[in-house]
Amino acid sequence: MALTDLLSNVSLLVRWLHVIAGITWIGMLYFFNFVNVPLQGALDDAAKKAVNPKLMPRALWWFRWGAMTTFLAGVVLFTLTYAYRPGQGFGMNENFISADGSVSDRGVWILMGMLFGTIMWLNVWFVIWPAQKKILSGQAGDQLAALRKRAGLFSRVNTYLSAPMLFGMLAPAHYGAVNGFTLLVAVALGIFAIWWSIKTSFQVGRSA
Ligand code: HEM
Repeated sequence: MALTDLLSNVSLLVRWLHVIAGITWIGMLYFFNFVNVPLQGALDDAAKKAVNPKLMPRALWWFRWGAMTTFLAGVVLFTLTYAYRPGQGFGMNENFISADGSVSDRGVWILMGMLFGTIMWLNVWFVIWPAQKKILSGQAGDQLAALRKRAGLFSRVNTYLSAPMLFGMLAPAHYGAVNGFTLLVAVALGIFAIWWSIKTSFQVGRSA
């Protein structure tokens, strides 16, 4: 049945694009935060000068375009899943609106996920990338330290947001029920997982 159903096929393709681009984006984010930050601390200036101009433009290309593709596919996925009624056109559907007219539990989860994901996307395109572009072009001048700090801080914020964000992506279709407590647990568990990973990133691989 789904084979001949155009909407199901388009939905699956967009969902696939969304997740594969999301893996690319968040994979790069975790590379920067769990591998590159401890690595840079272990390199001297000469090694940094040799490695970074070749490494960073490549990594940042996948990072920012992964973010853009994830975001755009996410917006299309949201429209198809929550804001479209087959045969009737666009408008919020029963996935988003409950029988009593309030936002559904599924809708609350995806709103949380999209809020965090959209903040992360804005941070990539309007803070991290502009700062990195200046740093890499050698035009930072005496702003260099401030730009590095700003890019690093927003990258850390995005890393912390990423894990709660993923609960917001997974729960709508695979869990459903929501209340203040479940949201709090999702955010706390996500933040703890990232805190543990950052702490561990300074301990692993030092002898290799
Ligand atoms: C940037 C803003 C983002 C928006 C607007 C967005 C939007 C969405 C939407 C609308 C869904 C469908 C939920 C449903 O089926 O009820 C979804 C699912 C999903 N998203 Fe996102 N998303 C974003 C970022 C991300 C990121 C960064 C990842 C990282 C991998 C991600 C991974 C997923 C996954 C794994 C699913 C579940 C697919 C499934 O179970 O069928 N999303 N997203």
